Amino acid sequence: MDPEITEKIMQEMAISKTTLIDIEGVPMLQSISDVWDTIYNFQARDGDVVVVSYPKSGTTWTQEILDLILQDGVVEKSMRAPCFVRVPFLEMAYTSLEVANSMPSPRLLKTHLPVHLMPPSFWEKNVKIVYVARNPKDCLVSYYHFHKMDNTMPDPGTWENFFSTFLSGNISWGSWFDHVIGWWNSKGKHQILYVFYEDMIEDPQREIQRVMRFLGKDLPEEVLQKIQHHTSFSSMKANPMVNYDVLLPSVLDTSISTFMRKGTVGDWKNHLLVSQNILFDEEYKKKLDGSGLSFRTEL
Ligand code: A3P
Repeated sequence: MDPEITEKIMQEMAISKTTLIDIEGVPMLQSISDVWDTIYNFQARDGDVVVVSYPKSGTTWTQEILDLILQDGVVEKSMRAPCFVRVPFLEMAYTSLEVANSMPSPRLLKTHLPVHLMPPSFWEKNVKIVYVARNPKDCLVSYYHFHKMDNTMPDPGTWENFFSTFLSGNISWGSWFDHVIGWWNSKGKHQILYVFYEDMIEDPQREIQRVMRFLGKDLPEEVLQKIQHHTSFSSMKANPMVNYDVLLPSVLDTSISTFMRKGTVGDWKNHLLVSQNILFDEEYKKKLDGSGLSFRTEL
């Protein structure tokens, strides 16, 4: 792949505007709102596969698993370019859309869009979607650290401020609650595989197999093991094609935090005060009761 594309995406991200603008009830970065019509009119193709998630839910991990499955476990192929070039992030940089449009099929794409903002062509083409969800407490903690290091995001303020912002949903890509419930409710209507970060941590081989079957592939045991090894936290942390270390410091400041930060279930216990945990649990109950959806916050 052309290294100039990597450079172009990075440059575009470095000048992105961090103000949040409302798009149909969802706060979105201004850089996204500026090109919203182009994003919404994106043309999906037969055979596309999309990884969808709320930010910080294990998107990069899932997309790496999918790319490797689609490449029949050939690790060298997954090293062909940084993950954000191999798997265009629909709404992030305008260049990503150009890359996606010029890519041969079958394409693997990524988005954090809530279900009601998905470009309609994805439904028309009946594409396969893998939705990955993570428990909201660990998502909150990961998103906080990410806001601190990622200069394309608004300033998170203090932990107390960010805690309230996350619960209110007035945050990039909107409310975690609306996102996970919206996609959960769409499961029966489209080709959507809903996977949980906690299940992937608990039994990566089982979850890799689920994804493989959903994609209609049948890879031998040793290939699955190779994929599991290559997508382990320690392998991905050391892999420059996925750990985002290639991004300019003006985009991601790795002196503040790393993208591959902890990769665990339960880090929220090191961050949430007892009072915040009570408040969070109340909100969780209010929003998720009756949805049929539940999350594990520890294993
Ligand atoms: P933490 O900040 O809790 O460590 P996303 O890709 O959606 O932005 O999600 C990033 C989160 O997924 C980070 O969480 C990151 O460490 C974690 N992650 C990435 N790759 C992982 C892997 N192979 N195994 C477990 N967690 C992983």
